[in-house]
Amino acid sequence: MILVTGGAGFIGANFVIDWLAATGDPVVNLDKLTYAGNLENLATMKGDPRHIFVRGDIGDSALVDRLLAEHQPRAIINFAAESHVDRSIHGPGDFIQTNVVGTYHLLESVRGYWSALPEAEKAAFRFLHVSTDEVYGSLAADDPPFAETKAFEPNSPYSASKAASDHLVRAWHHTYGLPVLTTNCSNNYGPYQFPEKLIPLVIANALAGKPLPIYGDGMNVRDWLYVSDHCAAIRRVLEAGRPGETYNIGGWNEMPNLDIVHTICALLDELRPDAAGPHARLITYVKDRPGHDRRYAIDARRIERELGWRPAETFETGIRKTVAWYLDNQAWVGHVTSGAYRDWVGRNYGDRA
Ligand code: NAD
Ligand code: DAU
Repeated sequence: MILVTGGAGFIGANFVIDWLAATGDPVVNLDKLTYAGNLENLATMKGDPRHIFVRGDIGDSALVDRLLAEHQPRAIINFAAESHVDRSIHGPGDFIQTNVVGTYHLLESVRGYWSALPEAEKAAFRFLHVSTDEVYGSLAADDPPFAETKAFEPNSPYSASKAASDHLVRAWHHTYGLPVLTTNCSNNYGPYQFPEKLIPLVIANALAGKPLPIYGDGMNVRDWLYVSDHCAAIRRVLEAGRPGETYNIGGWNEMPNLDIVHTICALLDELRPDAAGPHARLITYVKDRPGHDRRYAIDARRIERELGWRPAETFETGIRKTVAWYLDNQAWVGHVTSGAYRDWVGRNYGDRA
């Protein structure tokens, strides 16, 4: 049994689905179901006794203590977080509460449970914290990619809150001996990603004939990784990573945002042509994100060298699968883009024209 937090969100849901397929081992899935959590992401596991879903907060110590005592997990994978940079700019409070305070409470609950385990189980136990490359800050065009030794220089409320959580996890290892592992991954894309993030937003807007908003000059660079590759890397780190160590995960796939958007438009032109003209006609430059990090790039040589992990998908294969998934799952998109989503779009894009 493992306990996954945030398993109704984008990466967490993909992880639970892939985990059950790869290992068959049961999962307790603790998720608060914020705007980003969606039980529809877990629909393929309905009725599967190996998946136990619990709605709740990682900061609810009484609940977490009870779940640990009842299910006796051999590992925790902590995905739960507020994850969207633009939302952290509009309202940082939830980010501090979940990413920092919530992680602290979770660590304390886990420390209490782990300390009381018999020696063999204590030694085999792992707490894997899922984090981001954004903690390292922003790179200039000719800087080397982020290595695990790079100093943290977070620039947004989101990345600062994740950096704080990474530091807490590190300290719980060094001070209390908790066997932790931390992963710092680049930008993910794939099925079930909420369309507030660039790739699903562009697909959804293009299909609806709406503007495709490009922040600034569109030349900000991200490293993109297909989500199932991230899930495989986490499984590998859990299996063979050294406690107390951090592992960078990336796709060796740096691209400017504008190239990403043009690639999606070209795929849609091929798969769902629009009589009104090429989808790229919808590209619209809008006011930049405040403090927008210019470039992220990941040096993933440690996980390759020590654990033998490499991404299976190229960007070409991954983005084609992703666009096809959104075309095949328009009902899912319709459900998540109703109601509160429209309110968010008004708040984030209303004053960017
Ligand atoms: P997401 O926003 O899609 O999902 C987050 C999930 O956490 C949601 O299901 C939400 O309901 C849940 N949650 C939020 N607060 C909670 C709380 N207090 N208690 C319990 N559950 C809570 O995020 P994602 O994109 O799937 O990211 C998952 C993790 O991976 C995050 O920690 C994020 O920082 C990290 N990460 C994301 C990316 C990326 O590109 N998306 C890249 C690297 C790392
Ligand atoms: O690098 C890993 C991080 O990637 C994760 O830790 C975060 O959880 C995840 O959200 C993601 O952060 P980004 O800020 O890079 O992702 P986002 O999809 O919001 O934006 C990607 C790039 O596209 C970024 O340079 C901003 C730009 N952008 C984004 C949106 C939503 C636009 O140009 N227009 C948009 O409408």
